[in-house]
Amino acid sequence: MIVLGIETTCDETATAVVERFDDGRGKILSDVVLSQVREHAAYGGVVPEIAARAHVEALDYIIADAMTQAGCNFDAIDGIAAAGGPGLIGGVIVGLTTAKAIALVRNKPLIAVNHLEAHALTARLTDFVPFPYCLFLASGGHTQILAIRGVGDYVRLGTTQDDAIGEAFDKTAKLLGLGYPGGPEVEKIAAHGDPTRFTLPRPMHGRKDADFSLSGLKTALRLEAEKIAPLSDQDVADLCAGFQQAIVDVVFDRLRSGLRLFRTRFGAPSALVAAGGVAANQAIRKTLNRLAFEVGTTLIAPPLELCTDNGAMIAWAGAERLALGLTDSLDVAPRARWPLDEIAAAEGARKRTAAYK
Ligand code: KG4
Ligand code: ZN
Repeated sequence: MIVLGIETTCDETATAVVERFDDGRGKILSDVVLSQVREHAAYGGVVPEIAARAHVEALDYIIADAMTQAGCNFDAIDGIAAAGGPGLIGGVIVGLTTAKAIALVRNKPLIAVNHLEAHALTARLTDFVPFPYCLFLASGGHTQILAIRGVGDYVRLGTTQDDAIGEAFDKTAKLLGLGYPGGPEVEKIAAHGDPTRFTLPRPMHGRKDADFSLSGLKTALRLEAEKIAPLSDQDVADLCAGFQQAIVDVVFDRLRSGLRLFRTRFGAPSALVAAGGVAANQAIRKTLNRLAFEVGTTLIAPPLELCTDNGAMIAWAGAERLALGLTDSLDVAPRARWPLDEIAAAEGARKRTAAYK
């Protein structure tokens, strides 16, 4: 089964063609990502209106690119998948409407994929991971620990009460006058800093739940920076290193709680899976590896280009759903907000309704 995927929820316009074999394994036939980082850099963050316009300008071309690189035409495609949310609504409308147009004209099934679900299922494309597994999803908009029990069967074990980890990296970078996106910048500069110079908090440490809270850490960092301003290059490096170390410690502690909750409710996970842009951070990857070893499981972290937003993950999630006969009608609505566990609730309700028929 071959599926075209379209991703336009944030600042990457991405398309890909992915094949899913009958045994459940997958293969990426093409994967095209056009980053809008340059369009947004001057503003220190993503400007929704600029993003939506840039998606409109690029999308047709990169769909053609993905098809050419995959060496296939629309006749060979079994389904068209697009991220239907959550994300910046202007961009989601662009991608989903384009997918609807192709599905209508070519008479192909449409799959409106949840962007978070796509991150969640990527490890099955890259590593053929069996269910159930524990997912640590950390991106610019989300920080969640989830039990992934099947396609459409997700239980949230922990989430952030305020900022997402990627957002905290981006805000730290902005505060310290670094470039955008902030995560890679902070990581690069942290390598030259002393993580012990500043005393920063580890919010929620030791709690039984698996929730995160990062706004206190952000404020503490700002206060430390204000105390010693103007900042030298070394000050900035030490602040970055201190911030990154605090995040590493928080991730270790919160995820350890999350894995404990997982075990209690669902037994041993088949793996600890990392997803989302933050999983590109090497210090965080190292701590995830250490934690996985400590709790007796394995860390699966997809390659960096599949951790950040891409079209292959959308195509793959579309293929996983299509294989189960889960498609959407052409009037499916784009969604700015779409929590992952809502999918589980909706599908549970659908199954319950079906049982009554
Ligand atoms: O998953 P993603 O590409 O897009 C969203 O869906 O948000 O994640 C982007 C986020 C940004 O906040 C970015 O700063 C963060 O991931 N990020 C990183 C690193 N690379 C990207 N954070 C920390 N360290 C990195 N190396
Ligand atoms: Zn994402």
